[in-house]
Amino acid sequence: MQDLNGRVALVTGGARGIGAATAKALAAAGAKVVISDLADGTAVADSIGGAWVRHDVTVEADWIAAVAFARETFGGLDILVNNAGIFWMKPIIDTPLEDFRRMQQVNVEGVFLGLKHAIPAIAERAQRWDGGGSIINLSSVAGLVGQANGLAYNASKGAVRLMTKSAAMECARGGLKIRVNSVHPGIIDTPMMAEAAAAVSARSGEGSNSTLERFAQSHPMGRLGRDIDIANAIVFLASDGAAFMTGSEVVVDGGMTAA
Ligand SMILES: NC(=O)c1ccc[n+]([C@@H]2O[C@H](COP(=O)([O-])OP(=O)(O)OC[C@H]3O[C@@H](n4cnc5c(N)ncnc54)[C@H](O)[C@@H]3O)[C@@H](O)[C@H]2O)c1
Repeated sequence: MQDLNGRVALVTGGARGIGAATAKALAAAGAKVVISDLADGTAVADSIGGAWVRHDVTVEADWIAAVAFARETFGGLDILVNNAGIFWMKPIIDTPLEDFRRMQQVNVEGVFLGLKHAIPAIAERAQRWDGGGSIINLSSVAGLVGQANGLAYNASKGAVRLMTKSAAMECARGGLKIRVNSVHPGIIDTPMMAEAAAAVSARSGEGSNSTLERFAQSHPMGRLGRDIDIANAIVFLASDGAAFMTGSEVVVDGGMTAA
């Protein structure tokens, strides 16, 4: 178990899925956790002695308020998990420009704003910790390899991958003692995945059990990922155990992209 006692974390999109599992795992490791989400995250926050703040990651004023909320509630900020994201798949020629832009707005601009507003707050306390402050950005296997009908999502998660490395360089070269890393999940059993599977089944006429089995078998390990599989990697990256890791891409995909 990694020790995060004394640290304060902000997890965006923490009301459900990977974000909720991450919030719980960070709290289990000793961190005080602020969950931010468009959706009500009170239940998750209450279950871990944390706090929830309503936050749209595409709105700069919301970021300023969420970082201020973490400082007011728990005294500072040490860990940011840029987890909030959206997903859909469409053929390129059927993708309206506004849909493409919305994907980049949430998945890319949301991460940019998080870096912009959390870095100064995290820098204030980063010298306290051997491993410094830590920012973890949720990319995807879709940030590493292309997927048919996934252009908008591929574009957004590829951007997150390289924004992570850029921010890592800027922090390290600037002597800020903040590490920035990306996590690249395979297909993880969350509400987002269930919605995607339902959409695929409806489009293709394939039964929902067959879709889920096909998703599972796309991983050489033969199962879907669990939210805790991703949360465990995030807790490690947040901890001093990852003190010499920055700009890294941590792939948690049951071997999907190893072939
Ligand atoms: N589930 C997967 O298979 C998978 C695979 C690779 C990467 N990811 C990435 O992991 C992250 C979490 O995925 P998940 O499966 O838990 O998703 P999810 O849809 O189950 O949960 C996402 C949460 O983000 C919130 N959110 C969406 N837009 C927001 C906004 N504008 N502002 C604030 N909150 C917002 C939602 O309300 C929701 O609570 C996403 O970035 C996703 O792209 C997921």
